[in-house]
Amino acid sequence: MKKIVIAATLFSVACLLVVAQTKKPVQKTADSPAASIERGRGVYQRECLSCHQADGGGVPHMNPPLAGSTDVVGVDKKKIIGIVLHGMTDRIPLDDEYYSNNMASHANLTNQQIADVLSFVRNSFGNKADVVTLAEVAAVRVGKKK
Ligand code: HEC
Repeated sequence: MKKIVIAATLFSVACLLVVAQTKKPVQKTADSPAASIERGRGVYQRECLSCHQADGGGVPHMNPPLAGSTDVVGVDKKKIIGIVLHGMTDRIPLDDEYYSNNMASHANLTNQQIADVLSFVRNSFGNKADVVTLAEVAAVRVGKKK
């Protein structure tokens, strides 16, 4: 009897392992860089396009271009994550140009939406840089919001 119980337990554990193994690749596909960039396109169109424009070119002296921006494709992603989370009213030169409009905080977006939209702008309008991950956004936003 004991042997049957042990065999049944081992079988259940083996089944769980198989399920866990087969689930992993599916999650990976959903979170692929390409999928994140594609989701980010929708976020951009809803939240950013009105100011930064469809071609990422911005509006001269009002809203900065995201196309070709040093910060947008920069290695330090914390800066642009912070700008989306907290907005920007700094009036400091961006690539030697000043902009008069204010960017509001977009902290209402989820960490995933922020990762997606920044991955999109880092890989659109001629920009090319690695994607922004959920973990990188979560690290900048204290108090996680999925
Ligand atoms: C109301 C207009 C407006 C909206 C909407 C807006 N922005 Fe901005 N954004 C600005 C302005 C204006 C600045 C510069 C502010 C300054 O110079 O103080 C800016 C700055 C930035 C910068 C810094 C650029 C650089 O070269 O350093 C990034 C990145 C950015 N915005 C991304 C986004 C993203 C992503 C969204 C959508 C989630 C968004 N913005 C929505 C107006 C806007």
